Amino acid sequence: MIKIETLVKLRGVSVSYRNGRQSLLAISDIDLDIVSEEILAVVGRSGCGKTTLLKVVAGLIKPDKGEVIFNQKMFNGRRRKVGMMFQSPLLLPWRTVLKNVLLPIEVMGESVNEYLERALELIKMTGLKNFENSYPWELSGGMQQRVALCRALIHRPQLLLLDEPFGSLDAITREEMWMLLQNVVMEERCSTVLVTHDIREAVLLADRIVVMGSRPGRIKAEVKISFESPRSLELQYTREFNEYVMMIKNMLGE
Ligand SMILES: Nc1ncnc2c1ncn2[C@@H]1O[C@H](COP(=O)(O)OP(=O)(O)O)[C@@H](O)[C@H]1O
Ligand SMILES: [Mg+2]
Repeated sequence: MIKIETLVKLRGVSVSYRNGRQSLLAISDIDLDIVSEEILAVVGRSGCGKTTLLKVVAGLIKPDKGEVIFNQKMFNGRRRKVGMMFQSPLLLPWRTVLKNVLLPIEVMGESVNEYLERALELIKMTGLKNFENSYPWELSGGMQQRVALCRALIHRPQLLLLDEPFGSLDAITREEMWMLLQNVVMEERCSTVLVTHDIREAVLLADRIVVMGSRPGRIKAEVKISFESPRSLELQYTREFNEYVMMIKNMLGE
């Protein structure tokens, strides 16, 4: 029997943005548990509050209402063991691959030497061996995202937060990244929250999918995806896979 532990608990979380006199309720009354070692996908239309939700989980935004419990501790504004990756790789062009991967360690003021071996290991795991000393502009978009993934994982986060990480890649590269991500998170044993508007990506990778509705952003439904892991790309062509895709598409239609 696998022990299921909750890493993050959100209860009644609401976030509003203030713009002068106006206030916009971005997400409202969100209850969500993020379980150890799962891949949780969050799907929803643009503007429904997915990024806002991710920032709350990361501790970058304090909710106006509700509570966030990380590893059984209340939100306290201090840095959590979280790694983040975005649609754009956000690499520093004057730093090599290796130095980009090690950047968070430098920023946190920790010993770069202690993390050197780990950085090289991640670089190898993501198929970037021999590119340690290359510069970002020498790499393809997919390779740059691999560097961003290594950088997100360098400090061994318990939680990996991905905000539409493959949105700007071509279809074939995206599929390669799906398989890579799956292997890496299994190896690293971190919990992953994958925000995406790609329903197929969510069904292929996630153990569980949270479907968000808009105005204000809220959780409309939760779907457990009961395929065994690891999954192969061929799964996309099965009837069960496409039934999940259809079901979630229907849930998203307002
Ligand atoms: N910093 C901000 N200031 C004001 N409004 C914001 C800010 N960030 C997001 N919003 C608004 O909040 C809503 C949710 O945004 P966001 O979380 O980025 O959605 P998504 O990631 O699903 O596209 C949108 O209407 C957006 O315009
Ligand atoms: Mg977003």
